[in-house]
Amino acid sequence: MLDRNMPVLDDIATGRCIDLLPLRVSGLSLTRNNEVLLRDINFEIDNAGITLIMGPNGAGKSILMRLLHGLDKPDSGLIEWGDKLSNQQPSQRQAMVFQKPVLLRRSAASNIDFAIRLNGPTNPKLCNDVLNIVGLSGMAKRPARSLSGGEQQRLALARALAVKPDILFLDEPTANLDPASTKIIEDIVLAQKQAGTKIIFVTHHIGQAQRIGDDVLFLNRGRLTEQSPAKAFLEKPNSQAARDYLAGNMVL
Ligand SMILES: Nc1ncnc2c1ncn2[C@@H]1O[C@H](COP(=O)(O)OP(=O)(O)OP(=O)(O)O)[C@@H](O)[C@H]1O
Ligand SMILES: [Mg+2]
Repeated sequence: MLDRNMPVLDDIATGRCIDLLPLRVSGLSLTRNNEVLLRDINFEIDNAGITLIMGPNGAGKSILMRLLHGLDKPDSGLIEWGDKLSNQQPSQRQAMVFQKPVLLRRSAASNIDFAIRLNGPTNPKLCNDVLNIVGLSGMAKRPARSLSGGEQQRLALARALAVKPDILFLDEPTANLDPASTKIIEDIVLAQKQAGTKIIFVTHHIGQAQRIGDDVLFLNRGRLTEQSPAKAFLEKPNSQAARDYLAGNMVL
């Protein structure tokens, strides 16, 4: 059961993303096995809110997140965080929740402790707090891989929160969650935003996009087709591809 009286994130979300903005992406391209996966992506994000990445399956959303997080290198193009680049090591101030969470073969709490110890000393209180926030405090000692799919996604979010990121990448973090758990994750994400964390969030859920999105990057077949404020995008997208996507039609 999720604890509806979960603690607020005030003592956790201390991230301040402002000096990492704007995020400027220019000429980003990636080819694998002779297939162009991302083609000349250009955009700039200067808002500290929740940027959604939307688009059909296979559009390149997860690949773009991996490049932004520095996990993969593009064939060409630039990713620049903030104006004072020489002093920045943005990847150390970021965390990512993957579409398929990768959890260590140890307890739920140890998975979080492992992430905490990458940056500093062990911190059982922080570990408990983030487990509590995602509603998993009763499962701290359970082997992480024995948790259900939705519980594993929540654990992955707790692990990301534990490193107090300034930039948080979330790749379909509620894909396996029931409605109540989805609401709690959305509330956590909104609280993180209030606390100054920049969120980049992949979703296919239009209702979710309406509830939490500030702006949208729409990808189709490896191209960035639109960048718009979320409300404008959801009400009146510019491209036929986005209109088809939002209407639930196959995107050609
Ligand atoms: N390492 C790789 N080598 C070759 N092709 C890849 C590789 N990784 C991903 N792809 C391909 O790149 C395309 C984009 O993949 P990606 O995972 O970014 O899609 P997505 O937009 O996140 O889709 P979904 O909504 O299904 O999660 C897909 O066609 C995928 O098969
Ligand atoms: Mg994906």
